[in-house]
Amino acid sequence: MTPEPNPEIGQPTETITFAGLDRETLTTTGSEWWRSAVIYQIYPRSFADSDGDGLGDLAGVTSRLGSLAELGVDAIWLSPFFTSPQHDAGYDVADYCDVDPRFGTLADFDTLLNESHKLGIRVIVDLVPNHTSWDHQWFKDALASPEGSVERDRYMFRDGLGPNGDIAPNNWESVFGGPMWSRITNPDGTPGQWYLHIFDISQPDLNWENEWVRAQFRDILRFWLDRGADGFRVDVAHGLIKEAGLPDYTPPAEAGSMGGGAVPIEVDPHDLDRIPTPPYWAQDGVHEIYRDWNKVLSEYDGERVLCAEAWVEPLGKLARWVRDDEMHQAFNFTYLSAAWSAPELRLVIDTSIAAFATVGAPSTWVLSNHDVVRHATRLSLGPGHLQGDGIGPKSVDLPEPAAALRRARAASAVMLALPGSSYIYQGEELGLPESIDLPDEARQDPTWFRTHGERYGRDGCRVPIPWEAGKPSYGFGPAGASWLPQPSNWDAYARDAQSGVPGSTLELYKLALALRAEHDLGFGTVEWIETLGFGPQVVAFSNGSITVIANTGTVPIELPLESLGELLLASEPVGEAVLLPDTTVWLRSV
Ligand code: NOJ
Repeated sequence: MTPEPNPEIGQPTETITFAGLDRETLTTTGSEWWRSAVIYQIYPRSFADSDGDGLGDLAGVTSRLGSLAELGVDAIWLSPFFTSPQHDAGYDVADYCDVDPRFGTLADFDTLLNESHKLGIRVIVDLVPNHTSWDHQWFKDALASPEGSVERDRYMFRDGLGPNGDIAPNNWESVFGGPMWSRITNPDGTPGQWYLHIFDISQPDLNWENEWVRAQFRDILRFWLDRGADGFRVDVAHGLIKEAGLPDYTPPAEAGSMGGGAVPIEVDPHDLDRIPTPPYWAQDGVHEIYRDWNKVLSEYDGERVLCAEAWVEPLGKLARWVRDDEMHQAFNFTYLSAAWSAPELRLVIDTSIAAFATVGAPSTWVLSNHDVVRHATRLSLGPGHLQGDGIGPKSVDLPEPAAALRRARAASAVMLALPGSSYIYQGEELGLPESIDLPDEARQDPTWFRTHGERYGRDGCRVPIPWEAGKPSYGFGPAGASWLPQPSNWDAYARDAQSGVPGSTLELYKLALALRAEHDLGFGTVEWIETLGFGPQVVAFSNGSITVIANTGTVPIELPLESLGELLLASEPVGEAVLLPDTTVWLRSV
């Protein structure tokens, strides 16, 4: 069952160019809803808890779908809810075709999907193909089988170096800290081979050169497509294939843990060879896997999609993931990593649109997710905070929350006016900041444990979200339980405290999404406005009938509203014909 197509899309009217395609072309190829969609990320364990155990669940999501319809999103992406020992919050899957009892049942998933579709919201599930959990039957079989067996060949087992084999096969470091290899003990108690895990020790990497592994994943895709899923967000879509020979590699010190963030945006997006490719990321061999999956999806009706989580730079290289016969979207982490600075924003927006246009794909835009410091904090952090490190009580250069929220609202208002598809992470529409003061004993991210507390990791952006002010767990669940403690001052962020309140962050997002749909911004183009004499700290562009002006600087700018148009949206009140710092407005052009 798929939602009714949006009648707005697919009506050829005037020609609107987008990423090299015009609207008529889009019409002939179907609605291609994902080109302009606003997709809302649900992190199920922290969204809504129906049974009071402190962990969110699928029934909780279903019970709150109405709020998402009201917000105006086109689709939801559900982070993993599959059977898992939860060593990495479900990104360690023990059964790809079942729901972990902590999150509910397959019947709960079916209900969630049907109720979403009734509201016109599509549902994307998370696929984690790079690694399984060590609890997966395939890994148990591999451990129980001898070296060189077919079961071992499904994973990345290697002999150790040195006379006793007690040195890891190479020097690679896990994304979560510590070595990327662990040694097993054979059933007879002797030390055995080593296995590769890009992430936690509990997440052994699969061997994607193995045809059996590929066949299993085709079946897994079909399992969820048959149930009606509208697509997949593909975890670590740049990691499945490793360079032959597994050569030693040391990443540059300034690289974020997933590999992004190391490349200055100015690097020519078409100069693909200027940046060395780590032997475990972005190998050419991954693309045939996605071409294969594309064929599987095309057997199904309803425009099912694949979205790559690939921390690949420069953008010209990332565009390979969204070539016509591969995936549909790729998260734009270069945009996420950009500072709140007009020159940087102009550059990354232009570069993104141009890079993806070379393959006829839309750009995506994203500011927050479950792996990064929430942008209501991050955009105002001092320098030197690497992606994946997180922040905590001992971090330096932390921002003042109200000022940081103001900046985040301005940044969101820029993002939601851009053509292409935008991702929203649960809670950002409430203006939630990063939770900084989590007690050490509450932290659960493997990064925290593997680095012995040196890196805080990602728990601070994963705290269960507030629904109702003044209620235990802010209405997250029926009781006060919450798997990560919620700060005591979150009443003002609760959804019910913001709903209907003019100027609240929630109402700002609702207005932006409504205007975005009304003015078809997702299918528009960015035309920079150079003529108004704004200084270098101002982002000013038109997208169709909407003019967007953002002041990223530290001094107010004059804003001659009467000559510019009708004010439709303002991230902060606009008075006296000036636009204060960290403020964005949308105007209807006159
Ligand atoms: C990326 C996911 O977003 C992150 O949360 C997870 O820890 C790693 N991949 C490993 O699956």
